[in-house]
Amino acid sequence: MDNVIILGIESSCDDTSAAVIKDGVLLSSVVASQAVHEAYGGVVPELASRAHQQNIVPVVHEALKRAGVTKEQLSAVAFTRGPGLMGSLLVGVSFAKGFARSLGIPMIDVNHLQGHVLAHFIKEKEDDANQPKFPFLCLLVSGGNSQIILVKSYKDMEVLGQTIDDAAGEAIDKCSKVMGLGYPGGPIIDRLARQGNPKAFTFSKPHISGYDYSFSGLKTSFLYSLRDWLKDDPDFIEHHKEDLAASLEATIVEILMDKLRKVAKDTKIKEVAVAGGVSANNGLRNAFREHAERYGWNIYIPKFGYTTDNAAMIAITGYFKFLDKDFCSIDKPAYSRVGL
Ligand code: KG4
Repeated sequence: MDNVIILGIESSCDDTSAAVIKDGVLLSSVVASQAVHEAYGGVVPELASRAHQQNIVPVVHEALKRAGVTKEQLSAVAFTRGPGLMGSLLVGVSFAKGFARSLGIPMIDVNHLQGHVLAHFIKEKEDDANQPKFPFLCLLVSGGNSQIILVKSYKDMEVLGQTIDDAAGEAIDKCSKVMGLGYPGGPIIDRLARQGNPKAFTFSKPHISGYDYSFSGLKTSFLYSLRDWLKDDPDFIEHHKEDLAASLEATIVEILMDKLRKVAKDTKIKEVAVAGGVSANNGLRNAFREHAERYGWNIYIPKFGYTTDNAAMIAITGYFKFLDKDFCSIDKPAYSRVGL
């Protein structure tokens, strides 16, 4: 099927985003991030919903304009239906439904997590060919999730392991907050870690059987160690922030890669992708490259723009669902929690 033009809309957390994809090729992607949360050290749901309300119309308008597409040319509107913050989701979901209905075109609901995985299939040019082959493994690591997913096809995904408590990004953000660094902590820790010694400090690693993760123990170990060190030197953080960041990052990357390696070995799958906000982390990206060399993995690391929340991944998922005529009815509500 040709000339399929999908508008994607994403508003599950604190980024308002719209993107246009034509026959699988990205025409435009616009993301409005919300700086309002920085002062609070985390996303404030009520403020996020209000900012989405302000941003949604200009963001969609800009995405269509940059794509050079009129709304009448759209084939369907795809939107993130969940999981995410309910107030934030409602803005995108309601807008998408109203927009699609007014144009008389199908609406397509997208699971945000599935979107992160399928971000690997966004083509920036028609001949983009570097895409994972099925079946592949995807390590999905963000502020809300840490999962190892077996991706059998565009629509058939199985979670093989996941965190039983905090997500990796959440742990990084919380440790960064304890150190008095800004929010979100991920990019700050990443930057500091590049100048530090990853072996300077040791933090406890979880002992969880199977393929599941746990990050709450690491967070507590980080907090208690820091508290002890600060007793002897009140400026400990200032003196050691690069080494602290590097050691924290190295521990998290090791925890993530240990389980992923185990799954890859057991399933004998060598196509391995990474997705989600934490996949922007340079330490994790390097670990993927090392594993590719050592274990012969074919790795798929997303461009930075597709690591954090974006509507391009919603539009590409919508595109595949459109080809399957997998549409959604107007009465489908947003959902805050659900797996894949
Ligand atoms: O996927 P995402 O944008 O949002 C959701 O969780 O929905 O992921 C955000 C997470 C935050 O925890 C943030 O600190 C983390 O991704 N993150 C990073 C980096 N950039 C963002 N973590 C480590 N290194 C980074 N460079």
